[in-house]
Amino acid sequence: MTKVFKWGVVVFVIMVVLIVGGLVLVNLFSNLEIPNLTSQRMDLGKAENSKEVTEYYEIYTQKLDSEEFIDLKVNSFIDNLVKEFKNNNKNEKPLFNKDKAVLKQVIDTYKVNDDLMGVKITSIAKNLFEDNYSTSIYTYNFSKEDESLITLDELFDNRYKEVIPDGSYDNYLLTSDGIELYNKQYKSTIEYNTLLEYNASNKISAQNYQISQEEYDNMFKSNVDKNKKMVAITFDDGPHATNTLKILDILDRYDAKATFFMLGSNVINYQDVVKSVYERGNEIGIHTWNHNDLTKLSSDKILSEIDSTSTAIFNITGQRPKLVRPPYGAVNSVVKSTLCDYTLILWNIDSLDWKSRDENKIVPLVMNDVQDGDIILLHDIHATTVPAVEKIVKALDESGYQMVTVSELLDAKGYDTTSTKLFYSARQ
Ligand code: NI
Repeated sequence: MTKVFKWGVVVFVIMVVLIVGGLVLVNLFSNLEIPNLTSQRMDLGKAENSKEVTEYYEIYTQKLDSEEFIDLKVNSFIDNLVKEFKNNNKNEKPLFNKDKAVLKQVIDTYKVNDDLMGVKITSIAKNLFEDNYSTSIYTYNFSKEDESLITLDELFDNRYKEVIPDGSYDNYLLTSDGIELYNKQYKSTIEYNTLLEYNASNKISAQNYQISQEEYDNMFKSNVDKNKKMVAITFDDGPHATNTLKILDILDRYDAKATFFMLGSNVINYQDVVKSVYERGNEIGIHTWNHNDLTKLSSDKILSEIDSTSTAIFNITGQRPKLVRPPYGAVNSVVKSTLCDYTLILWNIDSLDWKSRDENKIVPLVMNDVQDGDIILLHDIHATTVPAVEKIVKALDESGYQMVTVSELLDAKGYDTTSTKLFYSARQ
């Protein structure tokens, strides 16, 4: 008798709590204002890509580039992550590139309204000798006007706790669509409307946010602006002990990239130069080992010229080149079929720098004809080419050209290098 009565009381109390609680919740959330949505996505200034490649690790990061408080906060957070990553991955030098530690970070910025914004840092990492990547998400939410970080408490007066299981999410992010919640593996999105119409049956469903391999690969696309005109400057016959480094300095000053078609016989002599070319974001292609005319060689000899050079470059950079420039631009059907795994890159603007050795002749030969999509031929083994490069890069920059690598050029212009195997230019 008493037992039944007790249970009756318990059930009654639970029901009252549920009903009253539900009414209170509906009431609270109906007072919630939906932030005024003005745009889907914004960029807080520019995110600059940077790359650091050593024998131990490859680090690809982005930095925000203004002096605003949120940029400084995000940048110093990233600096600390990078520092920690380096400390964790300096014990044993890996023999193979695949065993290197890798860290990739991407910053996305979101705008709720003119004041409220969210910053998401997606960090993907694998340590030395590991195969698998792990993904981490870090978020900042802030008020632009107050120059301060904001919490969900401040924003929603604690009411969100009724919706979001307490402590079950590490990070939240304000976006134009709603609040995104992240824990170790899962992402949930609560739309602002859902907060308003919240009731107990409206459970949050989580989805896995781990990033696919393809997404990893696409995360570090270059900064090339497809709508702006661009050219690819190429240098043959190097690397050279001093000229190549001087050219790298010029390129860096203009934020320009170039492609260096190297001879294997020079690669092994100037390994540090090769490393600099690669680490400073330029592309390396193959120009054979000994500068032989490939049309005069057998298939086997062609392959050995290319493979030996590829291996010499791979041993320094950990990357095998995809581009070949045949010496003298000499190509026939045997060369084409033998090198079908490569893209053959010729040129359409010839500076004749090797012939004139005179910047006053080299510069006009390039600048008088140059157009969007061109591939320009120069040689970094000649000292007289260096001052010409200085003038050409400056003039191209002033004329609004982006200077990109050959692969970036072909990609930006929409060419498929799996079907077209030989290019003079990417003019359209
Ligand atoms: Ni050559």
